[in-house]
Amino acid sequence: MEFVTLENRNGIKLKLTNYGGIVSELHVPDRSGAFADVTLGFETLEEYESQDFPYFGALVGRFANRIAGGRFALDGVVYDQLALNDGENHLHGGKRGFDRVVWDMERVSGDGYSGVVLRYLSVDGEEGYPGNLRTTVTYKLTDRDEWVIDYEASTDKPTIFNPTNHAYFNLAGHDSGSVMGHEMQIAAKGFTPTDAAGIPTGEIMALEGTGLDFRQPKPLGRDIESDDPFIDIVGGYDHNFALREAPGELALAAVVYEPESGREMKVYTTEPGMQLYTANFLQGALAGKGGYRYQRRDAFCLETQHYPDSPNHPQFPSTVLRPGHTFRSQTVYAFSAR
Ligand code: GAL
Repeated sequence: MEFVTLENRNGIKLKLTNYGGIVSELHVPDRSGAFADVTLGFETLEEYESQDFPYFGALVGRFANRIAGGRFALDGVVYDQLALNDGENHLHGGKRGFDRVVWDMERVSGDGYSGVVLRYLSVDGEEGYPGNLRTTVTYKLTDRDEWVIDYEASTDKPTIFNPTNHAYFNLAGHDSGSVMGHEMQIAAKGFTPTDAAGIPTGEIMALEGTGLDFRQPKPLGRDIESDDPFIDIVGGYDHNFALREAPGELALAAVVYEPESGREMKVYTTEPGMQLYTANFLQGALAGKGGYRYQRRDAFCLETQHYPDSPNHPQFPSTVLRPGHTFRSQTVYAFSAR
């Protein structure tokens, strides 16, 4: 296991490790050119390995988000049981998911970028999933100030797959407190309401008139304490936004702007969904870089993915991966300042 630091021609630095594919530092400039590290994390491998931490910067898989009861059916076979690690449900790949394994790592570079290729073979039955699944994730830092993530996978048995990266961002700096002043815009068509455990009801609801309507930019804090029942039930933002009905071409999914520093982040993805999570479960228990204790709402996550619990909702875009097919997905986090 090791750390690698990528740096682009504008001085942006992205530090990562092949443990969990974790991005532990990301230094980007503000409007005056001053750099800050905008992602939550720890300094040492030992801290990542020895602590229970909520996926800071990590790859998540095989299946991001929740699968009700850790159970699903595929081609008439019932897969019972995926690891249960979130009450009665399966979350983010289980007890030892992509975030807790050591990936093979190779450095790559090309015209206008440097990066790493991470590879992991998840064996048939791991965490309850069928099929030997070979996953390749490429991280690139480009001279256009983008962090590009490419996912590819193949399997030898029909299976389900839905990876993401779980970076926690704070565009004012990882140690600067609440993100409630960040302005968020999300190009969504609707959202998938859930029960209190985060399991979708199966509906895709309109955003209009809810606190989840970010089609025009608004501060994350504006409606978070309102009595909106969809926000209330999960204690903040912790929702999957339906960007489109099926995976497609790379498209703009979100723009986040931090007014004091002027830093802006745009998220592009080929995925049909994206989870906005406002770190509602952080509570100061974890001391991050520089000893700073991460508190509730000190960060936001925009986890590009398919919809939660898709295997149990045939009306959602499919997460089935079959032998002979290659899964491909791309997400880009692009940084600027104004
Ligand atoms: C998010 C999820 C939250 C919580 C968090 C990890 O992706 O939506 O409900 O589980 O990960 O603490």
